[in-house]
Amino acid sequence: MHSKRLEAIANLVNHNQKLADIGTDHAYLPIDLVEKGVISSAIAADIAEGPLNNAVENIQQHQLADKISTRLGNGLVPFSKADEVEQVVIAGMGGKLIVDILEEASQRQLYFETLILEPNIGEEEVRQWLMTHHYQITEETIVKEGRHIYEIIKAVQVNQKVTYSEAELLFGPVLVQEKPELFIQKWQHKLDTLTTILRQLKQHADNNQEKIEEFENTVRLIEQEVL
Ligand SMILES: C[S@@+](CC[C@H](N)C(=O)[O-])C[C@H]1O[C@@H](n2cnc3c(N)ncnc32)[C@H](O)[C@@H]1O
Repeated sequence: MHSKRLEAIANLVNHNQKLADIGTDHAYLPIDLVEKGVISSAIAADIAEGPLNNAVENIQQHQLADKISTRLGNGLVPFSKADEVEQVVIAGMGGKLIVDILEEASQRQLYFETLILEPNIGEEEVRQWLMTHHYQITEETIVKEGRHIYEIIKAVQVNQKVTYSEAELLFGPVLVQEKPELFIQKWQHKLDTLTTILRQLKQHADNNQEKIEEFENTVRLIEQEVL
């Protein structure tokens, strides 16, 4: 696999479920999954022609054109129920964009059994959307690549109402239970940053009380739930 991050995503994929990779870029993920026999077919989609051409080229080079098809378009717009996609991967985008993509599909009653999401930022917003759309978070992993720490969220559709606390939405319901070393590091770093910002904010007479309260609340949650 091309990166630790993509490998961690691949490890969460269900065997033998038809997969769509949204924002596939080079199609590294579906190619690897099909070659390893984890899945037998996939659809690799991207909004931009350049990345999709890279995907087409790579798929051809690996002689997988009969197993991996490609689609040009925004998010899940070029998909319908007829595609029978069971699991969707959306990785390497901001949380807001991931939510917009999922929301567009849900407006058309297009839901999937499994979602595997890797927001580069805005994980909380993604978890919030999952909670309000009957998706239960079943697995979460955290990996470091270069200087960046990535969280990967796997969720499955359920019938019952899903409820997460403020802390679970912020930290991740699974990560906050398991507390892996990298997770502690991430939130220790965040705590240090917030403490510095709070000190500076409080030194200014025209300080922003709302921001101070928001940051103090996050500091309290980190101290109570993580450290
Ligand atoms: C940073 S790359 C991530 C590639 C791969 N998913 C990964 O995680 O390594 C983001 C890709 O998402 C595509 N993209 C951005 N917005 C999109 C959208 N609304 N719908 C589909 N693809 C999108 C970009 O063209 C780009 O190829």
